[in-house]
Amino acid sequence: MAQATFYFPRGFLWGTATSSHQVEGNNMNNNWWAWEQEEGRILNGEKSGLACDWWGGRWREDLDRAAEGHQNAHRLSIEWSRVQPTPERWDEDAIDRYREIMRGLHGRDMTPLVTLHHFSDPIWLAEMGGWENSAVVGYFSKYVRKVVEALQEYVNLWVTINEPNILVLLGYVYGRFPPGKKNMSAALQVLINLVRAHAAAYHAIHEIQPQARVGTAYNYRGFQAHKSWSPLDNTAVNLHSKVFNDAFPRAITQGVLRLPFFRKHIPEAKATLDFLGINYYTKDNISFNLLKPKELFGDKFYPEDADLSDTGFIANRPTGMFEALKWGRGYNLPMIITENGVEDADDHMRPRFIIQHVHQVWRAVNFNYPIKGYFHWTLVDNFEWERGWTQRFGLWDLDVKTQRRKKRPSADLYAQICLENGLASHMVAKYAPEIYAKIFPE
Ligand code: FCB
Repeated sequence: MAQATFYFPRGFLWGTATSSHQVEGNNMNNNWWAWEQEEGRILNGEKSGLACDWWGGRWREDLDRAAEGHQNAHRLSIEWSRVQPTPERWDEDAIDRYREIMRGLHGRDMTPLVTLHHFSDPIWLAEMGGWENSAVVGYFSKYVRKVVEALQEYVNLWVTINEPNILVLLGYVYGRFPPGKKNMSAALQVLINLVRAHAAAYHAIHEIQPQARVGTAYNYRGFQAHKSWSPLDNTAVNLHSKVFNDAFPRAITQGVLRLPFFRKHIPEAKATLDFLGINYYTKDNISFNLLKPKELFGDKFYPEDADLSDTGFIANRPTGMFEALKWGRGYNLPMIITENGVEDADDHMRPRFIIQHVHQVWRAVNFNYPIKGYFHWTLVDNFEWERGWTQRFGLWDLDVKTQRRKKRPSADLYAQICLENGLASHMVAKYAPEIYAKIFPE
């Protein structure tokens, strides 16, 4: 059997990613908590509740787990509704708590990557119309200033808004996230406000902290023509790529938001990106369907023989990771994989998923793509939005009732990758022998 180690550049960031509402618990003052109280919104009526109890102090033990697993970085988010419980009030205790967590990261030799908005909004903002109201831009930049002033001594890497495309799509087109709308003109307004809010945050951060690096955590989805030779399937693929993948990153680099039959100059958004953070999970096949203009003329599905996750949410398609990085390369910026992972309660698939995706990242590194880090989603099972607790993305299993954590084999595999700063054949032999010959061909 061929043996080798695929090494990564020195200083590569290896970590996991989390978000405030999904791990802190008792986030009672945001729109997601309110959404969870409404019937039919969350699968099985599940609630975030205590989540992983980070606000109760369990961030310490979980960050110990990450550090013992040789992770040298962690991505987490600040909960806006804690920092600014009402428009007129800053909660200095909450801010201190975040400062303590940042010190906790440094104490464990972990670099923090901090997201300022990860899906959840303060109730007061939602009541004002949330992201549809252009006043959000001013409110967001005030909040960002407050946080950056408080945390700048600990944080150099910032993500403004997590997955703006998913926020628009699920909140305003499909209606599965709050505010549960299915309204294209609202969706467009929200998208414009997200671009403006990102730009305002970018400028605010650089004013306070000129050396900071400000980026995205952008959900890139792979799209592939079901019939590669079909011009119609390829047209639907192009439409999807333009709207879902390209529109937002282009807007915040070029200063122009472009959609089919729509173009808007947002000059303040030009060149407001220092690094491109990519969240990559999966890739769809697309068939052209004339009857679905609202779905950009496409039927999306996974191939019949796909390697599917527990609930069928994710198809394991690692080549899409390489394609994502190739796409990202076009922006001529440093890149970070800000999320990648799979829901897999009994860990039968995750080891091979990790190996195959890290392998694709390594391939891209070998083309000299400027990739600076990889953050696995996620450390410990957490509250997965409208899918509640039905999806288990953690390297560690969580018993939600008892708060007991149990290590999955993937945690040990990932620890070895982080420790060696590379992927070695002995790891594949141990954790995913079924793909050994593919990764290390004779
Ligand atoms: C991403 C979200 C993250 C998590 C993963 C599974 O879209 O950013 O919060 O839910 O999916």
